[in-house]
Amino acid sequence: MHTVDLITKKRDGLTLEEAEIRHLVEGYTRGDIPDYQMSAFLMAVYHQGMDDKESTALALAMRDSGDVIDLSDIEGIKVDKHSTGGVGDKVTLVLGPLLASLGAKFAKMSGRGLGHTGGTIDKLESIPGYQVELPVDVFKQQVNHLGIAIVGQSGDIAPADKKLYALRDVTATVEAIPLIAASIMSKKLASGADAIVLDVKVGRGAFMKSEEEAVKLAGLMVDIGRLAGRKMTAVLTDMDEPLGHMIGNGLEVYEAVKTLQGQGPSDLVEVTIDIGAHLLGDADIEGDFEQAKKRLHDALQNGTAYQKWLELVKAQGGDVTVFDDLDRLIAKQTVAVRATRSGVVSAMNALDIGKAAMRLGAGRETKDDVIWMDVGINLHHKIGDPVKKGDVLATLHVRDKGIEEARALVLNAITIGDEAKRLPRILQTIK
Ligand code: URA
Repeated sequence: MHTVDLITKKRDGLTLEEAEIRHLVEGYTRGDIPDYQMSAFLMAVYHQGMDDKESTALALAMRDSGDVIDLSDIEGIKVDKHSTGGVGDKVTLVLGPLLASLGAKFAKMSGRGLGHTGGTIDKLESIPGYQVELPVDVFKQQVNHLGIAIVGQSGDIAPADKKLYALRDVTATVEAIPLIAASIMSKKLASGADAIVLDVKVGRGAFMKSEEEAVKLAGLMVDIGRLAGRKMTAVLTDMDEPLGHMIGNGLEVYEAVKTLQGQGPSDLVEVTIDIGAHLLGDADIEGDFEQAKKRLHDALQNGTAYQKWLELVKAQGGDVTVFDDLDRLIAKQTVAVRATRSGVVSAMNALDIGKAAMRLGAGRETKDDVIWMDVGINLHHKIGDPVKKGDVLATLHVRDKGIEEARALVLNAITIGDEAKRLPRILQTIK
């Protein structure tokens, strides 16, 4: 097989065979195919697209480029969720213990944050002592006896994706839906769960800015997962405004704990329960969607989910006394961002709010940046709330970095108008 022939075939809009796609992925991962040929191939895909079979072949070849985690020695149906990345997205922290408290097996390998979106592993590291690295056998044992473990990605998951993503980043080929779908699904399929819900974020704070693009991406990822034998659902959720009120690592743990104690913000609760109800169905625990939602809601209110959270944190070495005094998670120095006029919060720019948190030190601009766990933003108002001139719109929890820039970003990110139209949180479900 000659690489140049495969590039030509895709350039001319023809369909590649599975073996041809494997040749490209394996050759590139080994270093036999140079960057310049792979760049040309990626650009051809960007312009010509790929059909579902090609995208699936790409995802599977990328999955097989590294370790594939075998979870078969965990009893029962293993469930997982993946978010395409949002601002204030702490759903995993709430969803995992909540599902495990109802008997599901939540075996989660999560990533770190980069750019304006945070990562679950960074958030968990704001809990003193919490170990994000567990040997795979310990991870599996913990899921078997506790129903849940949340760890960082171990081993060498989808190395082809790491190499291809870095190349896409510098060749203007990130925004191709088949490439995004294969990239995300290669990692999900390597992590071994039987049932997966994808939370595809849509809006200004998300990777997918329009619902139309998000539907295409979600549909393709569902098809890839299904062709690979997994139970799949995608929910499209709004990311014009951040999820919940708190953004930043320790702040998001704070809000997740409040939610697990039954005092969560309505949007976070709604998205978590919706995703959870799909997974309870897939795990054969509760097939009636409305009944599943009720059971999840009850577990948040009656303390069962919070108990499971405490067990999880203890099992992974974390100090649970921090939850008796949640302010320990948050920087004491604060700066208020005040409304410059009266009216109603009519729009928010989640992207700029995420950037503001990053400027304060909560997120990484490059992957080697050191982050602070206790800085971030507490939004006191969301879209639709009436405000008066001088009201505190947001409190910044700060150290000594980026304060003025963050203040200006947050102020500009919150639009106060005369009326507001709230978008539904869950825009569509693709099964
Ligand atoms: N997230 C991924 O993991 N891959 C992409 O290509 C885009 C977002």
